[in-house]
Amino acid sequence: MQVWIEGEKLHEGAEAIVKSGFWLGKPAIKKFRRPRKWRHPELDSRLTKSRLTSEVRSLLKLQQLNFPCPSIFHLDLKNGIMFMEKIEGRTLVQILKDELSLETSKEIFHELGKILRKLHLCGTTHGDLTTTNIILNENKIVLIDYGLSQSTFEVESYGLDFHVLYECLQATHPDFPNAMEQIIESYLNFKDSDNYMKFEGGTIPKAKEIISRFEQIKSRVRYHD
Ligand SMILES: Nc1ncnc2c1ncn2[C@@H]1O[C@H](COP(=O)(O)OP(=O)(O)O)[C@@H](O)[C@H]1O
Ligand SMILES: [Mg+2]
Repeated sequence: MQVWIEGEKLHEGAEAIVKSGFWLGKPAIKKFRRPRKWRHPELDSRLTKSRLTSEVRSLLKLQQLNFPCPSIFHLDLKNGIMFMEKIEGRTLVQILKDELSLETSKEIFHELGKILRKLHLCGTTHGDLTTTNIILNENKIVLIDYGLSQSTFEVESYGLDFHVLYECLQATHPDFPNAMEQIIESYLNFKDSDNYMKFEGGTIPKAKEIISRFEQIKSRVRYHD
């Protein structure tokens, strides 16, 4: 029996090649971190492994905490390849290109704020929160691409998640000028109390602290422009 049946190429970025297919008969994704020719081979292999291992580490942790994310099917660290569950749906970039009603877009941004707070309550930041790394299926949002994610208690890292998203929305989706406001409102309204997770060695920053750090980062960046 063939374990992996390869399908079409979905994406070829600077860092990774992504293909769809079937792993033991289940819809799956093969993510291959490709070598960068201009980088020193040893450095390259270290960077590839570190991205891949942070991705795997985060996915395993999030899975344990019941946070919705792709399951890992198989890891081939030596060759920089990971096989994981395929999340059905479309990326948020694609969806925001549709003619959306104000109502629908508000619902999406509301859901995004909630899921982001849930992620942060796992003591994890995403690190690359762009609209290509957000998949939507009906009303459900799943975040993917955890290569730059971190387990941390530092408020800066949480604020940066908002800043990356903010810059992406500004640059790519100017038709939704209220997006950030709607995301933040829902992030702040998320009821932490029932969902608060205790971790050794620190506490996860409060939603309010994170948002004010995001505002600080924004003005810091503006000042340097
Ligand atoms: N688990 C998955 N399920 C469905 N689509 C995926 C999955 N992982 C990646 N993709 C698709 O492949 C694209 C690139 O994958 P990603 O992990 O974001 O790689 P990169 O690090 O190059 O951005 C995503 O934007 C998405 O369209
Ligand atoms: Mg990506």
